[in-house]
Amino acid sequence: MGSPAIAILGTGSYAPEKILTNDDLSKLVDTSDEWIFTRTGIRERHIAAPNETTSQMAAAAARLAMSDAGVTAADIDLIIVATVTPDLPMPATACFVQHQLGVPTHAACFDLNAACSGFIYALDTAWAMLGSGRYRHALVIGAEKFSSVLDWKDRTTCVLFGDGAGAVVLGPTRGTGQILGTKLYTEGAHTHLLCIPDGGSNTPDPAATGARTPRTVSMKGREIFKIAVREMEEAARDILAQHQITPAQIGCVIPHQANLRIIDAIARYLELPAERFFVNLERYGNTSAASIPLALDEARSSGRIKPGETTLFVAFGAGLTYGSALVRW
Ligand code: ACO
Repeated sequence: MGSPAIAILGTGSYAPEKILTNDDLSKLVDTSDEWIFTRTGIRERHIAAPNETTSQMAAAAARLAMSDAGVTAADIDLIIVATVTPDLPMPATACFVQHQLGVPTHAACFDLNAACSGFIYALDTAWAMLGSGRYRHALVIGAEKFSSVLDWKDRTTCVLFGDGAGAVVLGPTRGTGQILGTKLYTEGAHTHLLCIPDGGSNTPDPAATGARTPRTVSMKGREIFKIAVREMEEAARDILAQHQITPAQIGCVIPHQANLRIIDAIARYLELPAERFFVNLERYGNTSAASIPLALDEARSSGRIKPGETTLFVAFGAGLTYGSALVRW
């Protein structure tokens, strides 16, 4: 018997109640709605409450995904949370999620750090684990409290990101949502372009140096922009060629929601109309690992994804990681 075909059985998403608009941000830093919107396409983002955790947002999205899939916590035997903003450095956020959902103890639960590519990395990992036949139903979640790692005095980063979560349930196919393929890449030469330069084993000893670097995101935006366009085009073209699918045969592209100008550039290079791309970053900003599953949930619930269509996911993130995935509905 061959390995079982694995599919997305259900989706769910969650965004915190509080909305921070570009005008709100212009009261915190020297910026404007006009600058942010024309450079990025972002108008507003959701910001978690001070006591709201990544695991709580992940669990909220997961509950909706389980309900959509018609499975219960007892059916889940694998939870992967893609995040760079865990509840704590240790233990994994997935363990908190398991407890909040009441998922049984025989479930494997761990976090995965591939920044904004995290959801595609987690999808690939869960697909392989379920494909082995040793696990049956997985929760694959992207969740971020990105506001917790932002320097709210740095206008070059704090205007770009937001908080939220998206989740999917993976399991044996019921005829729709089948994963056709994934491709993952890494360009570790560029780790310095996007990082949190503190809080790990490479943190200078504050006792020795007398100084600490901030535990907030540091980013070379202009350099990232150019590389992101090249990487996402490569990831899209490779997977389409591998599956002998032309860009025109893709019903909907769900790209990582970082910057509308990046998405427009990829649409141009793939010679696809911009309308083929599902975009919701105007309302969420860049929610890192949550961005694709959150957009997928909205694309499905708004009827943007039609039966029989193929959807392309494509992302890039810190690492630099990048990747793509194809799903047939
Ligand atoms: N408001 C007003 N002015 C600003 C702001 C702001 N919020 N931020 C920067 N500026 C100024 C700069 O200081 C600069 O001024 P100067 O010309 O006097 O020096 C000017 O605007 C232009 O700055 P650039 O950095 O050249 O602007 P650019 O057009 O490249 O846009 C941006 C910047 C939006 C960051 C863009 O480069 C980008 O989106 N890069 C990709 C970043 C990204 O996607 N990161 C997420 C990675 S995913 C993950 O893993 C987390």
